[in-house]
Amino acid sequence: MSDPIKTNAAEKKPESTMGMLREDALKGKTIIVTGGGTGLGRSMGSYFLKLGANLVITSRKLDVLKQTASEMEAETGGKVLAVACDVRKYEEVENVLKQAVETFGRVDVLVNNAAGNFISPTERLSANAFSSIIDIVLKGSVNCSLALGKYWIGEKIPGNILNIVTTYAFTGSAYVVPSACAKGGVLAMTRSLAAEWGRHGIRTNAIAPGPFPTKGAWDRLLPGDMLKKFDFKNRVPLKRMGEHQELANLAAFLVSGFSGYINGEVITIDGGEWLQGAGQFNALEMVPAEMWDSIEQATRRA
Ligand code: HXC
Ligand code: NAP
Repeated sequence: MSDPIKTNAAEKKPESTMGMLREDALKGKTIIVTGGGTGLGRSMGSYFLKLGANLVITSRKLDVLKQTASEMEAETGGKVLAVACDVRKYEEVENVLKQAVETFGRVDVLVNNAAGNFISPTERLSANAFSSIIDIVLKGSVNCSLALGKYWIGEKIPGNILNIVTTYAFTGSAYVVPSACAKGGVLAMTRSLAAEWGRHGIRTNAIAPGPFPTKGAWDRLLPGDMLKKFDFKNRVPLKRMGEHQELANLAAFLVSGFSGYINGEVITIDGGEWLQGAGQFNALEMVPAEMWDSIEQATRRA
């Protein structure tokens, strides 16, 4: 496939694609990003490093993580710890936390970004296929939040959890039902922990991104010819997909102290995509401008 990250490259970049926060906004914070070796996790992690954070990236493939870590360090001058971990396994999550504390002294932020997904009619799925997505997305986010929450409460650290969900966490979506169930669960966890752990100074928030091209998502959600037939851009009122820096800006704000009074919120960043699908008459954008005169006459007559 063509590199999805370059899809928007020829277009004029909006201001929102520039770094937003001041240079030292995350200085002294140690941030774990699950699924941090690729895609959006990598983009968020790179920006956190530029803002002065220490970074821990984790996923199943150590070779990918190590490669990413050395590229990030060369690009930003920051320090990155790469630890292999399957978020489905609690003891592996505990090991990430242990290594992070040994390396950086403490951990302040968890970004639950790791995910698994693919499109399929639900009736074609095996029980194991369904559970494997639930286990990565929901159980993985639970495992990481639980391990970090116990640590933060025990050490009296005002931690911060940022969950990457999707807009169909609240709308639901056909053909990605395991992912929709799992992300819906993560959203419920976000609001529940915000209420329960707020008194420990732990904030829990979520971001619901619309389409942001990544190889991992595009290969599984728009394989082969589907990329041409279902151009996500057409579903978005702004007629473009998201730029990774736009998401990184929002994520950096939410994990920084500048968002200190935001707790239990889910922020959508989708160019208006989900509302476009929801509004009963939104499809009228297909009516040509010249038809509106005759339509107006008809509605006035009525
Ligand atoms: C039907 C499938 C399938 C498919 C796998 N399975 N792919 N069933 N259609 N396309 C079944 C397998 O046959 C098996 O069931 C079960 O699922 C588990 O598959 P494994 O390959 O053994 O699992 P695993 O190695 O853990 O891999 C997990 C994975 C894989 C999810 C299947 O794709 C993966 O590693 N993904 C990680 C990255 C990713 O998905 N990124 C995209 C995130 S995008 P049986 O019964 O045969 O044992 C995202 C964006 C949302 O979330 C919104 C976008 C706008
Ligand atoms: P991606 O590059 O495929 O990222 C998924 C990451 O999760 C990979 O790094 C993968 O690494 C890791 N992962 C998968 N299973 C794991 C496991 N069991 N344990 C640990 N790590 C695991 O896709 P992406 O598009 O950047 O997605 C990142 C996040 O954004 C996901 O939560 C996704 O749902 C969300 N999102 C994306 C979009 C979009 O348009 N791209 C839209 C809405 C939401 P390994 O294979 O090495 O484990």
